[in-house]
Amino acid sequence: MNLKTTLAALLLAFSGFVLAAGQTDKKEAPAEFGQGTKYSEEGADTCLVCHNEEWAYPIFPIFKTKHANRADKRTPFAGLQCEACHGPGAKHAESGGDRNAINSQKANSWVAVGERNKLCLTCHQGNARMGWHGSAHDANNVACSSCHKVHAERDPVLAKATQADACFKCHKQQRADFQKPSSHPVRFGQLACSDCHNAHGTNAKAMLVKTTVNQTCTTCHAEKRGPFLWEHAPVADDCTLCHSPHGTARPSLLTKTPPLLCQQCHTHVHPSVARTGAALPANGGAGAAFVVAGSCTNCHSQIHGSNHPSGVKLMR
Ligand code: HEC
Ligand code: HEC
Ligand code: HEC
Ligand code: HEC
Ligand code: HEC
Ligand code: HEC
Ligand code: HEC
Ligand code: HEC
Ligand code: HEC
Ligand code: HEC
Repeated sequence: MNLKTTLAALLLAFSGFVLAAGQTDKKEAPAEFGQGTKYSEEGADTCLVCHNEEWAYPIFPIFKTKHANRADKRTPFAGLQCEACHGPGAKHAESGGDRNAINSQKANSWVAVGERNKLCLTCHQGNARMGWHGSAHDANNVACSSCHKVHAERDPVLAKATQADACFKCHKQQRADFQKPSSHPVRFGQLACSDCHNAHGTNAKAMLVKTTVNQTCTTCHAEKRGPFLWEHAPVADDCTLCHSPHGTARPSLLTKTPPLLCQQCHTHVHPSVARTGAALPANGGAGAAFVVAGSCTNCHSQIHGSNHPSGVKLMR
């Protein structure tokens, strides 16, 4: 036996060992979840013997939700009932509650996220979830149950007032932004993340509900849509060139305050720094008038575009 064949034999033996170890593991491979196990014969009745009113986790509120509408043939309770979401549960029931024989749908489930979501997606593939596969949430293993509470009478993520809290669990930066002095009024329940984002994924950047940022913004701020006789190029291009969509410490959700905001692009216009020695704000030296108070927008007030015949400089 030369060195090469010895190595090959060793490798074979080693992989055999790994396989054997895999087989003795109590947990089945997540990819094979459900295979070889059976559905219980009595459906929910089997489960509710043990998971009754006294079970620490409140099971019963689900009977007040759309999922429990047995008159609707598409719902879980018109079919496999509990097992439509938890997978075949005969083995779990017969064993007196073996955790490893049931898909808990919980964050700590041994069943892979993709496998868990698949059970929901058997019924919910279409409509708003067309973009799920490959979305940022799918790609980062976010489970349907990370946002949805299906055993609750009212799923908080579906209500404007409570939705953001479900998102803020993971999106800390956005939570901070929405607390800033100038912000979209999400924390007052006037607006929800889902007014701008489809959490299930879209083809647009940042999973926006519309194809572009501007289309998303102008669904509500229609007066900024134009077309204007005198366009301001960046406005027609992308609102986020000047505005943060979530919140900022500056007025009007601005990313910077004028004159700095404007000077990012306009460097060679009339004086935009107060000359040294000038007394501000009254009687400033040359240039002062251009930067005090509202600064550039004191004169260029039609910053989003103008329809006035002489509005070319966005001043009326
Ligand atoms: C004989 C009693 C019994 C029956 C019948 C039973 N369970 Fe359980 N179930 C348990 C016990 C006990 C636990 C807790 C196991 C643990 O924490 O180790 C449990 C846990 C669970 C869990 C949570 C698993 C986890 O990872 O925490 C789910 C989901 C579940 N059962 C669903 C069902 C469904 C669906 C049925 C009907 C098909 C069912 N059970 C029938 C006793 C039962
Ligand atoms: C529409 C899908 C769906 C249906 C139908 C459903 N469940 Fe659940 N169940 C879930 C999800 C999702 C969770 C995870 C909850 C969480 O993350 O806190 C869960 C959690 C559980 C748990 C674990 C809670 C714990 O910590 O012990 C039990 C037990 C359970 N369900 C039992 C049942 C029983 C019994 C039925 C039938 C009466 C049922 N479920 C029907 C989706 C469903
Ligand atoms: C057997 C099919 C089936 C399965 C499995 C299923 N659902 Fe549903 N679900 C439905 C039907 C049917 C409705 C009602 C739709 C309607 O009324 O338009 C519904 C409604 C919902 C709603 C909206 C509730 C509301 O009040 O408007 C949410 C959210 C939801 N399901 C999430 C889930 C999640 C999460 C899972 C997996 C844990 C899941 N569903 C599994 C069939 C299913
Ligand atoms: C990141 C959070 C999040 C995740 C993950 C998520 N959803 Fe949703 N889901 C939402 C929000 C927010 C709404 C409300 C949308 C609205 O009001 O326009 C919603 C609404 C729904 C609805 C009811 C409205 C409709 O479109 O029919 C269903 C059904 C649903 N989700 C199923 C699912 C399924 C299935 C999964 C897993 C594949 C999932 N969701 C994952 C946040 C989430
Ligand atoms: C369980 C954690 C979790 C929850 C809950 C959650 N997200 Fe996310 N979300 C992520 C991760 C992880 C990413 C990808 C990494 C990143 O961009 O931070 C992401 C990315 C995003 C993105 C950027 C997508 C892109 O293509 O760049 C948006 C928008 C988003 N989430 C919105 C939401 C909204 C709205 C909710 C509530 C309805 C929500 N998320 C709830 C974990 C979560
Ligand atoms: C008024 C519309 C609007 C609302 C409401 C909104 N977003 Fe956004 N969000 C956007 C836009 C536009 C972007 C893309 C910014 C860019 O990249 O230009 C974005 C980007 C994101 C991103 C990607 C990272 C980033 O900051 O660029 C995450 C995550 C996110 N939003 C989460 C949320 C969450 C969570 C909520 C609710 C609490 C929410 N958004 C509410 C418009 C909105
Ligand atoms: C779902 C509707 C909706 C969408 C979409 C929306 N907004 Fe708003 N916006 C509002 C509401 C409501 C207010 C608060 C108005 C008030 O307080 O009078 C607001 C306020 C603002 C303000 C003024 C904030 C202040 O502090 O004065 C700016 C700037 C703004 N939005 C920009 C945007 C941009 C940019 C987008 C796209 C990323 C956008 N909006 C998308 C509803 C929306
Ligand atoms: C070139 C920078 C710039 C761009 C791009 C821009 N804005 Fe503005 N926006 C401003 C400034 C500056 C203010 C503050 C106006 C003031 O102080 O008089 C403002 C204020 C606002 C306000 C609150 C006051 C009002 O006029 O209603 C809304 C809403 C708004 N912008 C929406 C939008 C939308 C929607 C877009 C994209 C279509 C957009 N903005 C693009 C600079 C910009
Ligand atoms: C992201 C870059 C950008 C920002 C920020 C920006 N602009 Fe502009 N602005 C442009 C472009 C591009 C044009 C078109 C220039 C052209 O056609 O020569 C323009 C045109 C103008 C015009 C008309 C000029 C003319 O020649 O008719 C005025 C006035 C103006 N901007 C003022 C402002 C003010 C005030 C601000 C700050 C509130 C601002 N701009 C912010 C890019 C920007
Ligand atoms: C006191 C009023 C006033 C203020 C404040 C002001 N401008 Fe102007 N701006 C004007 C006038 C008037 C014109 C037209 C000049 C002309 O037609 O020759 C003009 C023209 C412009 C033009 C077009 C230049 C060109 O070549 O036609 C730009 C760009 C501009 N301003 C940007 C700014 C910026 C950026 C600021 C803030 C730093 C600002 N303006 C502040 C009055 C003002």
